[in-house]
Amino acid sequence: MQNTYKHSTISNLMLFKQAEHASVFVAQEIANLILSKQAQGEFAVLGLATGNTPKGVYRELIRLHREENLSFGNVVSFNLDEYYPIEPDNDQSYFYFMREHLFKHIDMKPDNIHIPHATCGADSISQFCKDFEDKIASFGGLDLQLLGIGRNGHIGFNEPGSSFDSKTRLVNLHDVTRADAEADFGSLEQVPQQAISVGVQTISQAKKILLLALGERKSKIMNKVFNGEITREAPASILQSLPQVQYILDHEAAKRMQP
Ligand code: GLP
Repeated sequence: MQNTYKHSTISNLMLFKQAEHASVFVAQEIANLILSKQAQGEFAVLGLATGNTPKGVYRELIRLHREENLSFGNVVSFNLDEYYPIEPDNDQSYFYFMREHLFKHIDMKPDNIHIPHATCGADSISQFCKDFEDKIASFGGLDLQLLGIGRNGHIGFNEPGSSFDSKTRLVNLHDVTRADAEADFGSLEQVPQQAISVGVQTISQAKKILLLALGERKSKIMNKVFNGEITREAPASILQSLPQVQYILDHEAAKRMQP
């Protein structure tokens, strides 16, 4: 592809001049998985992300569905996270985001969509989280996990300090994360203090992991988690130790990367 240039020595890092091309590449990887699983008569088990970063991926998947007949009939999905508490019809919920940006445009079976939107009380959350993990395991684990990254190095809502052994659980949101969500919610007070997030271990066990980072505002943290030490203070740094990870960056996100 003309707009692609791959790092000469690090094979799991793909750099694209334009964000759009990075998104199309990721969508194609997802489509290839869906098609190969279809050919084998199996489910494709996807871990999905929210935020601005994956919007272009979802746009391309919708295009593939509409224009190239890609069916999502064999797809089972598990979203990474959700604010807690939040009502599913709140337009800041990830449930709402996923419906608007992907699910309402494609042919996924509603029963195959899983988002950790616990409407239960605090006393039932740990059971809800365990059931979520059990459900992922019942499908044989995640075939592919799509990730964005927070400016503090979080993946999902695994904030700095998260254990690398963590599973789905209730978490407290970091100040940087809440500040980044302030504009969407209208004020800092309205940003929930907590969220449910799949764990670092849950993510790490996916058979393939695609981390997509776009734009200059991700450049500092990308250099840190790609080249820096592996530390719980930047949870995405654990990805360095995993062979199944591919980093997909646009030019802007890669500009502080030291090869
Ligand atoms: C939220 C989500 C993350 C996402 C991050 C980055 O915190 N929980 O999964 O990766 O935002 O968002 P954006 O892609 O909008 O920068």
